[in-house]
Amino acid sequence: MFEPTNKVIDESRQGEAISLKTENNGKKLYLESYGCQMNFSDSEIVASILIEKGYSTTKNAEESDVILLNTCAIRDNAEQRIRNRLRDFSLLKKKNPELIVGIMGCMAERLKSQLLEEEKLVDLVVGPDAYRDLPNLIEKTEDGTKAVNVLLSREETYADITPVRLNSNGITAFISIMRGCDNMCSFCVVPFTRGRERSRDPYSIVKEAKELFDKGYREVTLLGQNVDSYKWKNENETEKVNFADLLEMVALVSPDLRIRFSTSHPKDMTDEVLQIMAKYENICNYIHLPVQSGNTEILHKMNRGYTREWYLERIAAIKRIIPDCAISTDIITGFCSETEEQHKDTISLMQEVKYDFAYMFKYSERPKTLAQRKYADDVPDDVKTRRLNEIIALQNQHSFESNKRAIGKIHKVLIEGFSKKSKEHYYGRNSQNAVVVFPKENFKPGDYVDVLVNDCTSATLLGKALI
Ligand code: SAH
Ligand code: SF4
Ligand code: F3S
Repeated sequence: MFEPTNKVIDESRQGEAISLKTENNGKKLYLESYGCQMNFSDSEIVASILIEKGYSTTKNAEESDVILLNTCAIRDNAEQRIRNRLRDFSLLKKKNPELIVGIMGCMAERLKSQLLEEEKLVDLVVGPDAYRDLPNLIEKTEDGTKAVNVLLSREETYADITPVRLNSNGITAFISIMRGCDNMCSFCVVPFTRGRERSRDPYSIVKEAKELFDKGYREVTLLGQNVDSYKWKNENETEKVNFADLLEMVALVSPDLRIRFSTSHPKDMTDEVLQIMAKYENICNYIHLPVQSGNTEILHKMNRGYTREWYLERIAAIKRIIPDCAISTDIITGFCSETEEQHKDTISLMQEVKYDFAYMFKYSERPKTLAQRKYADDVPDDVKTRRLNEIIALQNQHSFESNKRAIGKIHKVLIEGFSKKSKEHYYGRNSQNAVVVFPKENFKPGDYVDVLVNDCTSATLLGKALI
């Protein structure tokens, strides 16, 4: 997931190689993922599809037969990073002309076959709804033909595919509950890259959660671009399941299975969801509620579907129904025509809400979006940067204050593994998603422990387990 430091986060920062051991057909797959949690979750589906066909995976690109890059298109720098990475692979291709290089994910969907013209190295382009076709597409490229499948679907949810858990700590896992997005926020490329919104069968979600629990996993994060608009009905429409219902169904798998979810949308988040969160101790007290801007006029131009007042009322509802709920957000600075006054509205909103954590970005114009067609990207880059730095500085202060408030209290922590800095310490998270580090004593990953927090840095809580 995300590291809890308040810095400018580029969704594409998390390039990550993946490796698995399995019987193979002699062909080795190297898979590298960028972007959001949905993309990392999709990589687990792709690995499952190809392993089923006899591929094995490798962490070493140099020994691979097929390289797949799972890409992000959310901001221009995410795409630049992929193009740079392709330069690295051109050396490998010189050494091994048989090597197949494929681009999958959101940048593949955005650029389609244009990618084959722009990046000569690329043999294969596959969009997020066409992963079942990958074995066939790879086969096609084996005689040097280029292969493309970027068809978007109204139905595909990969519900029947059991993801292969990649680079897993064995304790926490993602479960995709829906795909696509119907919201059309004016700045956002996702509706173009992931197509129409569709919800996955809730029984396949519960089954996946149960199987994970039986394997020793203790936390699942339910993923969707707008989880609050999850809706499913059976064929004769006698049964309807909304997000609150789904949360309850997953919470009932076991009281020892923690549930998180992302992302909530302020226009759709209901009190019913908040009440279910309050009812079940194993649904974590943490909500990521992206605001994007604190100014109503900008929110309107962003096509977000809520005002500043509506958003603040939703925050008040969270605080009323779940008093110890942590709240994080996403903010964009320098959106089209944003004035200094409007930027100050974002600052005053941050001061009012006091987020525990935030992801902050400079606006990056994306081709074909409503904003690109309708509004000028007219805030100079140095102004965007200055505004971004101002909100980062403020958020750092708020995050530190939030951590300081945790000192002196006992937190129930799920142990995820060794702390990065020391094998004598474990790290885990409390319900509010804050990272807690403490001496390992005789505990093991997957245990729940009560930790008395006695110190903190701006990003981490430090403490000692109570025995
Ligand atoms: N579905 C989620 C967010 C998905 S993208 C939601 O609706 O909140 C994650 C974040 O990237 C967004 O919340 C937004 O803050 C940021 N983002 C999206 N498009 C962007 C763009 N064109 N420029 C800068 N940031 C952008
Ligand atoms: Fe993009 Fe808006 Fe959909 Fe989020 S809700 S993915 S920001 S269009
Ligand atoms: Fe990026 Fe696609 Fe996710 S654009 S943020 S990988 S949905």
